[in-house]
Amino acid sequence: MSENYILNNGVEMPKVGLGVYKIQEDQADSIVYALQNGYKSLDTASFYHNEEMIASAIKKSGIDRKNIFLTTKVWNSDHGKKKTKKAFEESLKRLNTDYIDLYLIHWPSPKYIESWKAIEELYKEGKIRAIGVANFEQKHLEKLEKFSTVTPAVNQIQTNPFKQQEQLHWYLKNKGILHEAWGPFGHGNQSLFNNEVLIEISKKYGKTPAQVILRWNLDREIAVIPKSVSPKRLDQNLDVFDFSLTNEEMKKIATLEQNTRGFNDPNNKLFLWITQFIN
Ligand SMILES: NC(=O)c1ccc[n+]([C@@H]2O[C@H](COP(=O)([O-])OP(=O)(O)OC[C@H]3O[C@@H](n4cnc5c(N)ncnc54)[C@H](OP(=O)(O)O)[C@@H]3O)[C@@H](O)[C@H]2O)c1
Repeated sequence: MSENYILNNGVEMPKVGLGVYKIQEDQADSIVYALQNGYKSLDTASFYHNEEMIASAIKKSGIDRKNIFLTTKVWNSDHGKKKTKKAFEESLKRLNTDYIDLYLIHWPSPKYIESWKAIEELYKEGKIRAIGVANFEQKHLEKLEKFSTVTPAVNQIQTNPFKQQEQLHWYLKNKGILHEAWGPFGHGNQSLFNNEVLIEISKKYGKTPAQVILRWNLDREIAVIPKSVSPKRLDQNLDVFDFSLTNEEMKKIATLEQNTRGFNDPNNKLFLWITQFIN
């Protein structure tokens, strides 16, 4: 079973990466552990304020930068052509690197078209290996298509068994855009881990409900970036390549859809507007 996806520009991206949102300075050793124990992809963002910590963890791990697929994102207050280019250079500096593997627009806040133009230029200059978006709905992608010359390689969106994104998933597939799941565990939502359907399936494979959630994503051809600071759970989250769910099991998980999300919603214009002024 390949552990990589091939993006629409031919670049390979690990199917499982480590999400580092809210990993604190005193937990940085968990990133070192992850890198030394098989993780080849890290997902950060300027908004997470931990890019410098990522750079130190990479250095401490002894793993060559070129063997790590590094994702970071431009935040809403840095939208606009000039600001995005400046934000990109600042991320490079903090990450102590001269290129980014995947650079994403974090949210479709009002000036995202201008930001995309800047990102396309950086991509064409060879400073980014693949470019994409996050939290984009179909309407945002349709607007982007009108003004762009490069199709996004990835759309990173909230995806878990209670928010499955089925419709957007198929739109992305038809456009050749890889669906990447953020918050695959709903930020550690216990009602996911305690869900009877997921528990039943996990027992069959000798896995945990968390592993079933990751496998369910992979079986839909979705990339995942679970966050953990525990060595045991980091190992667990990578140990998902030796089983696969049946169609019946996929159908059962499909019934768990609740289609709920909070204030951080790409359809919430107030959220998109306010966050332009928050760093
Ligand atoms: N683009 C965006 O707008 C956006 C938004 C949110 C997140 N993200 C990205 O997505 C990543 C993941 O999302 P997230 O950090 O919000 O949450 P998540 O990955 O859904 O859940 C993390 C929580 O689950 C726990 N956990 C991890 N592995 C587990 C396992 N095997 N069994 C039981 N519990 C487990 C973690 O605890 P321990 O750490 O104690 O293991 C933590 O409390 C982020 O780090 C970030 O990179 C992107």
